[in-house]
Amino acid sequence: MSTPLNKKATTEEIRKRFDEEVERFSNLETGQQTAVDAALMMELIVKAAAACNPAARAVLDIGCGAGNNTLKLLQHKNDIDCDLVDLSMKMLERAFQRVSAATSGAVRMFQSDIREADLPHGHYDIIFAAAVLHHLRDDDDWRGTFRRMYELTAPGGTVWITDLVFHENKEVHALLWERYGKYLESTGGEEYRDRIFDFIEKQDSPRPVTFQLDLLREAGFAEVDVLHKNSCFAAFGARKSK
Ligand SMILES: C[S@@+](CC[C@H](N)C(=O)[O-])C[C@H]1O[C@@H](n2cnc3c(N)ncnc32)[C@H](O)[C@@H]1O
Repeated sequence: MSTPLNKKATTEEIRKRFDEEVERFSNLETGQQTAVDAALMMELIVKAAAACNPAARAVLDIGCGAGNNTLKLLQHKNDIDCDLVDLSMKMLERAFQRVSAATSGAVRMFQSDIREADLPHGHYDIIFAAAVLHHLRDDDDWRGTFRRMYELTAPGGTVWITDLVFHENKEVHALLWERYGKYLESTGGEEYRDRIFDFIEKQDSPRPVTFQLDLLREAGFAEVDVLHKNSCFAAFGARKSK
């Protein structure tokens, strides 16, 4: 990527873009199809969360979009309190409507940047951050957000991340980026591939999964695990000690 971090899309531009994307993020069966193995990654983080925290009372969905990940979790246990955070009110409204119909627990929505949201510390048994952290920018942003996720997690709670990722080694990155390009071409043709790559260039600043695993440990999490990695996508998570 050649666009410097300070020239990438602003938070307001990201919010506006996602206001227009509610339908694309409302398919519970496929998830977001620009991601390789989207449905599999969603299934894996949800099943891991349900297995690690079978008695979960509270879930936080960061960058919830239309609520797919929380909805999938509620298929396992339908009495969880759900806090939904997103920049986009249109996404939140859709997520609130779908999630409220699927849980007997309380549902709250927060229209906020995750870096600023006023949320209870040590409260969440499960935190999802699905396809959202690639909007973080510099090292301080990343480090601060992982620390935040740690503070918000209840003792024994877990955090689960799926995302577009880069790689430490530039040759490895080029190889896996090419594979991702071929995947996009096979689903929508060359023009589609170029459009998605253009979006990523302007709006996203992904980091390697290895960097994020280090940040999880640095923030204080234990039992850091990778669930899945295929080309430029990964699903991983960690538990906070009791
Ligand atoms: C690619 S969508 C993923 C939605 C959902 N997690 C899913 O997996 O279907 C990213 C979402 O994160 C939200 N978002 C981006 N940056 C954010 C931030 N800093 N704080 C809160 N939400 C953010 C966007 O508005 C968008 O709805």
